[in-house]
Amino acid sequence: MSETSTVTIRPVHEDDSPALLRITREHGVIETILALPSDRLQQRIDTIRQLTSDDHWFVAEVAGEVVGLAGLRVGQGRTRHSGHIFLFVARAHQSKGIGGRLLDALLDVADNWLMLRRVELTVFAENARAKALYERHGFVVEGHLKMSVISEGALHDEYLMARCR
Ligand SMILES: CC(C)(COP(=O)(O)OP(=O)(O)OC[C@H]1O[C@@H](n2cnc3c(N)ncnc32)[C@H](O)[C@@H]1OP(=O)(O)O)[C@@H](O)C(=O)NCCC(=O)NCCS
Repeated sequence: MSETSTVTIRPVHEDDSPALLRITREHGVIETILALPSDRLQQRIDTIRQLTSDDHWFVAEVAGEVVGLAGLRVGQGRTRHSGHIFLFVARAHQSKGIGGRLLDALLDVADNWLMLRRVELTVFAENARAKALYERHGFVVEGHLKMSVISEGALHDEYLMARCR
């Protein structure tokens, strides 16, 4: 069932940190993002406090509960026309269109408010759901990174994906 009509997308706040830490520790999330089981609440608070004017982070809320996070970081200097994104949704709220809503929010900022020419990301090669979501939003695979990231005791490949306009 679609949950998108009840979802609020808004800028992140440091008070969201406990909920975000809980989500990044969930089975079904931690394996395919770059979090660690030892990540501390203070680290998450500090990361949000240290976001700059080149960071554009949004949370998704359902009934007042934070259920996902997406972020865009704009490049510096001669990569000022490009941005790098990340995205995750709590296990219980996946496959209901919330990831799509968060991605739409990032791409609206990138396209219509910053007029970026290139948006890129990396995704675990096995993460078919995320890859399909990015492809539906115009991303294409540009590269295959071999043994580039550790998860659950093994080295995994990633794809570099980008959307150019
Ligand atoms: C990847 C992720 C962000 C997607 O968010 P989401 O809210 O589940 O995404 P949506 O519901 O908007 O879209 C998922 C779509 O993928 C489809 N899908 C599910 N499993 C799939 C699969 N194995 N292959 C292809 N498509 C799949 C769903 O049917 C859904 O399609 P629909 O929009 O047509 O219904 C979320 O699942 C997540 O946080 N996963 C764990 C962390 C992660 O992998 N983050 C991305 C790191 S790059």
